[in-house]
Amino acid sequence: MSIDYRAEIKRLKEALDVTVVAHFYQRDEVFEMGDITGDSLELARKSKADSNPWIIFCGVGFMGQSVKVIAPEKRVLMPKIACCAMARMIDASYFDDSVAYMVERGIAKEDILPITYINSDATVKAKVGEMGGLVCTSSNAFKIIEKGLESGKKILFVPDRCLGQNFANSMGLKSCVIGEGECDPKEADIICFNGFCSVHQLFTLEDIAFYRERYPDIKIAVHPECDPKIVEAADFSGSTSQLIAYVDALDPEQKVAVGTEYNLVNRMREKNTYVLSSTKPECPTMNETTLEDLYLTLKSIEEGNPINEIVVDEHTVKYANLALERMLAVK
Ligand code: 13P
Ligand code: SF4
Repeated sequence: MSIDYRAEIKRLKEALDVTVVAHFYQRDEVFEMGDITGDSLELARKSKADSNPWIIFCGVGFMGQSVKVIAPEKRVLMPKIACCAMARMIDASYFDDSVAYMVERGIAKEDILPITYINSDATVKAKVGEMGGLVCTSSNAFKIIEKGLESGKKILFVPDRCLGQNFANSMGLKSCVIGEGECDPKEADIICFNGFCSVHQLFTLEDIAFYRERYPDIKIAVHPECDPKIVEAADFSGSTSQLIAYVDALDPEQKVAVGTEYNLVNRMREKNTYVLSSTKPECPTMNETTLEDLYLTLKSIEEGNPINEIVVDEHTVKYANLALERMLAVK
């Protein structure tokens, strides 16, 4: 007999003290089960404020881990502990190497303020926290960098070179990328680690030219994980929630091509919205979570044998928490 996953998930959600959290990039059928949805920052804030002791996080590893760090008293389970490709590009030792790169080029360690994009492992956030730094997301990076600059220190931005460069450009700051051409930390305000999102690298200037040629009045809206030349050629750039708000505010007749993950853009299709790519820009790790996984995770709580629980060691929680809380304190 086959299981009606939707019905079972609804039953289990009612029976248990759980909150299901889902990022916009999740498969539609999983996303529809979310009690809390939003961009990375909203998911962190709302999960922390939620009153249920159990959080079932449908997203990628760093998202569930961040909830565990800012709300250690909660039990956080992930139907799939899938690791974001960008987060995988940096670990604590690569972080140390980046600090060493700056020190070797004449910047004292005390004069470096690290900022990590939330798309990183808790151990990297802990390194950042220990050095007095903070976390940012795509929706608050401008404010967080502004806050970081108040220290008068050089900013080391990890792991996304695109986000670092895009916000440096929008703030009129000089940036460079470690390992890409001449990157002299003395000459730049923001020194970026050379990480990126493989999904957001799929959008090209040719894609933008294709749509602008076909529909001269079309708007182009992209996520700031896209390459700086794409963000510069676009009409708008913002986090997933900000992209949704931008498209919602457009006249219904206004065409718009959106450069971010496929599941989110596909949900906007009725709004004259196009996918800004000739390929399907799917995030493989976000797509790993299925309705069956969500059901099995809920069922494991009911059976008293929870699976896929997020565990973060005490030292990491202590310092990653500092970096995340410094971010949450910025309004
Ligand atoms: P948001 O914070 O905009 O939801 O982005 C998360 C992400 O992983 C984008 O690729
Ligand atoms: Fe990570 Fe890119 Fe997927 Fe976002 S879209 S979760 S940055 S791999």
